[in-house]
Amino acid sequence: MKNKMIVIDGVDGSGKGVQTRRLHQALLADGMRSILTREPGGSAAAEDIRKLLVEGEPDKWDSMTELLLMYAARRTHLNDTIQPALKRGDWVISDRFADSSRAFQGIAGELGLEVVEKVHQLVVGSFAPDLVLILDIPESVALRRALARGGGEDRFEKKGAEYQARVRQAFKQVAATDNRLYQVIDANQSIDAVTVQVFDTVNRQFQLSLKVNKDIE
Ligand code: TMP
Repeated sequence: MKNKMIVIDGVDGSGKGVQTRRLHQALLADGMRSILTREPGGSAAAEDIRKLLVEGEPDKWDSMTELLLMYAARRTHLNDTIQPALKRGDWVISDRFADSSRAFQGIAGELGLEVVEKVHQLVVGSFAPDLVLILDIPESVALRRALARGGGEDRFEKKGAEYQARVRQAFKQVAATDNRLYQVIDANQSIDAVTVQVFDTVNRQFQLSLKVNKDIE
């Protein structure tokens, strides 16, 4: 199987972190080359931009400024990390990608999907991941988890439950546009049960037989 890019996305606190780590480690354990990356971030320059985005007060940037910063970060992530990895033959596992911009800035942030698509075309063009898994979980459960983490990277979480509820619905709306690219996974279950669903989906789609290592957290 040729190397692919798989994205795991969803509301803040949906459990993407552990699922991306498990997937990445399972690929390595099966003898494949894989990188684990994230957005906003994933390259040195994009990690600098990440700090601007995730720290501070919610109204520091409006939705359009957020979108432009996200896509500035995405451009260096693509050029410096994702494209070179795919060229080398590595699998790419990313914690978030462009669907976060569609859901957070486009729909929840009320910019509109047309505006996001214009910027997306300029920066990303026709490039797309091979599979996007959306972890779906009630925003109240997710928000509690996300805020409990602490650490100061909580600018989006501070936008509140109503914003996160819009983000949840937005991801479902985006996922409904292409049922081959997107798979929605019920993440309101134990971490291990979610992993089983993630691995079943990936194994089926790419004819793999990855095995879950539950010790990875
Ligand atoms: P993280 O906590 O999952 O790493 O993501 C940081 C925040 O950035 C998260 O609250 C979602 C937000 N975000 C957007 O609003 N738009 C985007 O395009 C991306 C990639 C993230």
